[in-house]
Amino acid sequence: MINRRNVLTLIGGLPAVALPVRAMAASPGVAPLDAAGGGPRKRIALDAGWKFHLGDAHELDRDFGFGAQQRTYAKQGFGASYVASPDFTDIQWGKTNFDDSGWQDVILPHDWAVSLPFTPNERFKATGPKSEDPRNGHGFKPLGREYPATSVGWYRYKFDLSQADMGKRLTLEFDGIFRDALIMVNGYILARNESGYAPFSVDFTDVANLDGHNLITIRVDATLGEGWFYEGAGIYRRVHLVKRAPIHVPQWGVLIRGRADGRVDIVTQVRQADDKTADAVVVSTLLDPDGKVVASERSPTTAPSPWGETTVPQTLNVASPRLWDVHRPELYTLRTAIEVDGAVVDQTENRFGLRDIRFDADRGFFLNGRSVKLRGANIHQDHAGVGCAVTKELNRFRLERMIEMGCNAIRCSHNPQSAEFMDLCDEMGLLVIAENRQMISSEAGLDQLERLVLRDRNRPSVILWSIGNEEPQEGSVRSARVARTMIRTVRRLDPTRLIGAAFDNSFTKPQALASALDFVGVNYNPNELVKVHETFPRTIVIASETGSSVGTRGVYVGDDKRRHLPAYDNEKVPWGQFAHEWLPDVENKPYVAGGFVWTGLDYHGEPSPFYTFPSVGSQFGVYDSCGFPKDTAYYIRAWWRQDEPLVHLLPHWNWAGREGQPIDVWCYSNLEEVELWLNGKSLGRKAVEKFGYATWQVPFAPGKLEARGYRQGRAIASSTRETAGAPAALRLSAVRGRLKADGQDTAIVRVSAVDATGRPVPTAELPVRFALDGPLWLAGTGNGDPSSLEIETQPTRRLFSGLCQVILRTRPGQTGQARLVAQADGVRSAQLDFTLG
Ligand code: GAL
Repeated sequence: MINRRNVLTLIGGLPAVALPVRAMAASPGVAPLDAAGGGPRKRIALDAGWKFHLGDAHELDRDFGFGAQQRTYAKQGFGASYVASPDFTDIQWGKTNFDDSGWQDVILPHDWAVSLPFTPNERFKATGPKSEDPRNGHGFKPLGREYPATSVGWYRYKFDLSQADMGKRLTLEFDGIFRDALIMVNGYILARNESGYAPFSVDFTDVANLDGHNLITIRVDATLGEGWFYEGAGIYRRVHLVKRAPIHVPQWGVLIRGRADGRVDIVTQVRQADDKTADAVVVSTLLDPDGKVVASERSPTTAPSPWGETTVPQTLNVASPRLWDVHRPELYTLRTAIEVDGAVVDQTENRFGLRDIRFDADRGFFLNGRSVKLRGANIHQDHAGVGCAVTKELNRFRLERMIEMGCNAIRCSHNPQSAEFMDLCDEMGLLVIAENRQMISSEAGLDQLERLVLRDRNRPSVILWSIGNEEPQEGSVRSARVARTMIRTVRRLDPTRLIGAAFDNSFTKPQALASALDFVGVNYNPNELVKVHETFPRTIVIASETGSSVGTRGVYVGDDKRRHLPAYDNEKVPWGQFAHEWLPDVENKPYVAGGFVWTGLDYHGEPSPFYTFPSVGSQFGVYDSCGFPKDTAYYIRAWWRQDEPLVHLLPHWNWAGREGQPIDVWCYSNLEEVELWLNGKSLGRKAVEKFGYATWQVPFAPGKLEARGYRQGRAIASSTRETAGAPAALRLSAVRGRLKADGQDTAIVRVSAVDATGRPVPTAELPVRFALDGPLWLAGTGNGDPSSLEIETQPTRRLFSGLCQVILRTRPGQTGQARLVAQADGVRSAQLDFTLG
């Protein structure tokens, strides 16, 4: 192994130049809301301008008086807390004496858990090097009842309304808050939303102040969790303010079903939020993927009763339909306008696709009449550096990685994802199993489920609804009752998609959960696939979790102390399978509609298989938590994208000190034969079986190791590994140098080290410092090391196996140039410029 200390000593140290990292600029004043939006309805993203402060679950004074004198719900204005409205006689924030200038400025999405230090917890002490105790699933962040001072967060957001908003219905739409959010507007407690995943909205029309200042205050209590994986904390998805006319289409009020033959069935809800009412005309206009109008219909409707609702069905037909398909996702737009007396009073747009989906219990999934094997990945919603506060662009980056390895499907394990994530699946042509968080048929449980279905039922990407995963109740008769109630709820809102759940036992138990479902997801347990198929011949079978092999990116010799595992795909949890086991198994079984690897990317928490500190992240991913591929990504790609010749060699070839010792060399390839060369000498050719790979043992000698892949005797692809020298310089690269100054656009920067001749150094572990100039801000950093304890939002990060990542975000309206500088002692620094427009 290369001796890191020696390398650093040899290089010597150049003096480091300290560059400041800009703190997020304060956003003084009040958001200019009327500048955004247009037309009769305004939907304004409340991204920037939020103030954040930690509260306290136990200490009243540190929790801004929340709950003082047992009067949380006492009266509007003085009940919840003095930050919500310290002076109930005058709820204009400008006249209160509460000063939030010391609070942190945040731009949504925001996850406060990610900036908390990883904290060992006595309860989760090691009981061995690979403890099987999975209790610390959340990844050793100080959240929960033991950590009252870091488990509650407060947010404040000030904005203006004016008399121009008189008569409008005013609503706040929250796509997701983790968790237990108490929503106050101008001191009134308007809603409490417990679910950390379900979207919800709050109408605040009655308490709005149309003469100026308004204040949203939100207390978020992440003390309790909902999963066994990292779940974040805070307003980690976007928030919108919507202003609508009294007569309007409510949120998710347009149902659209587009078929491959061009028929589009629409049902529009028209709501009258007023004492008086009027006849309205629903005008539906279809725009093709190029924005050209291709069909439209006007449907007069008799006035809904005051404060009532009416629904308007319509059917439109598209001649020469352009189909939504995997990786060829043609998206149409439905523009819905409500006209009263010839004037448009409300308008909304929804995207949809024209496509047919069908499942066959013997032959799997069909899209637009064509058989398509679901080649899927499970993903959780967090990313290195930013936790659950993943912007749309960062999610695009993550999903691009999945497509790169040949994925056409995603299972949203084990909760609804953000609306933007789902938008991307529509836009990128990914097939989605949308999963609910809690399998419970209580009123609250059904309400969460309804919100998921209502938000996502128009999406062409969604092909299945999953109501549960490995539920402890799955073997019971009563779980079938719970399921039937949930299924009735889903079918009422969406009779077009099948409904099921994923299992880890009781796959075929009569009268239990599996017997109530359209599809049964088999997690691991490959022998159960055929049993389910035979026991329930009409049920669709899906390998909902495959894999759960474990490995650390770029590491080829395990190290229990550092909690690292070799990345050869030769370690797994007891219930897991290697890629060369599950992938052919799923491909070869026609009745298995598809398989979903656990997981596409590493995630915070569930630090299997070590479980104990300092193991803080999972190692199941085909990609690491930054989206850097582990070698298994190439095995999967070879067989999921068989048409593209691939040769991939592992491990790296930096084994100083192991000269002459045998090194395991593997080659993933979808070509007929591969030949290995070391320093120009052939070490022999080997045939590669379908779904196989080639291996050698090669005595280490520094230099160049190369694999060439042959088809019909011709070398058509190759892969090389070269022994690199000591790190001499840093390198930075990003997908785009031009970013939108909208507060959401995100630069995902790859940081690597090269030696004096420019060769990447795969073992480099230099600590890197980052400095920023210009209007970008550093959202977080990561390196894929599942036991790195570096604080993720600091402008420093050690390279791990030669790489780390920096995530930069924009600020709304702040244009110009920005520069990222990366420095490490003893090596040349690197810089990267961005244009923000
Ligand atoms: C499954 C579970 C996943 C994850 C995985 C690890 O049992 O559904 O959430 O825990 O195992 O192998």
